Amino acid sequence: MQLEGKTAVVTGVSKGIGRATAEALLAAGAVVAGWGRSAPSGLAHARFHFFACDVRDENAVAAALAATQRTLGPAVHVLVNNAGLGLAGAVAGFGTAEWKLMFDTNVHGLFYCTRVVLPLMKAQQEGHILNISSIAGLVGIENMAGYCATKFAVRGFSQALMKEVRNDGIKVSCFYPGSTQTNFFDDIPGSEANASMMQPEDVAATILYTLQAPKNFLIADVEMRPLQPKR
Ligand SMILES: NC(=O)c1ccc[n+]([C@@H]2O[C@H](COP(=O)([O-])OP(=O)(O)OC[C@H]3O[C@@H](n4cnc5c(N)ncnc54)[C@H](OP(=O)(O)O)[C@@H]3O)[C@@H](O)[C@H]2O)c1
Repeated sequence: MQLEGKTAVVTGVSKGIGRATAEALLAAGAVVAGWGRSAPSGLAHARFHFFACDVRDENAVAAALAATQRTLGPAVHVLVNNAGLGLAGAVAGFGTAEWKLMFDTNVHGLFYCTRVVLPLMKAQQEGHILNISSIAGLVGIENMAGYCATKFAVRGFSQALMKEVRNDGIKVSCFYPGSTQTNFFDDIPGSEANASMMQPEDVAATILYTLQAPKNFLIADVEMRPLQPKR
């Protein structure tokens, strides 16, 4: 897709992969609507607009879309479903609230955001939905069962939706990043982000590449890993 002047929604835009993706989209000429609980500090750009939205709340998602359309016009061409979190712990004793928090954000929030933009994309016969799963959506990881379950769900949802909407001219791509140096690890005791991990800007560059592929060329699944993670 040629991104100049196109409207792109990015969820979870305050930091990390979401913020880096917003910046990459702005550099490519897109108009970016950032949906999230907190705004990215210091990101001042004429084509960047922040709309407060907790993706766990379907009414807040509908309100964010309405506010986006009031400000930027009716079209939404791109949705990057990035907002998410991971909590670790053995299944025995894992808290119900923590389990539900991950599903409400990583799975239900992604569904609410996708559902709300699909009618627009179908009417336009054009759109691209990019979902951030994880390596944890491809293989099980010890003490991350809940997080893995959410990211496997994102993979299943993405692959099914891709087949559902491809004939409407809508692309669906799913990304499986390995460890990336962001604040993601702040919530995981005993693990710390470090420079051997991938950089969020590099993940964002791959998202941009996927978006800019020729019209009749759909990159459906993208696995990304750091080269020397233990260095
Ligand atoms: N870092 C990694 O190693 C890695 C690897 C694979 C996949 N991922 C995935 O990549 C995505 C981004 O993570 P990250 O690494 O960039 O982590 P991060 O730096 O912690 O950023 C997470 C973002 O999600 C937002 N968010 C969380 N809950 C939200 C909610 N209910 N509503 C709206 N926004 C919400 C956060 O906003 P607030 O500022 O409001 O909290 C923040 O902007 C996640 O889906 C994560 O699972 C990360």
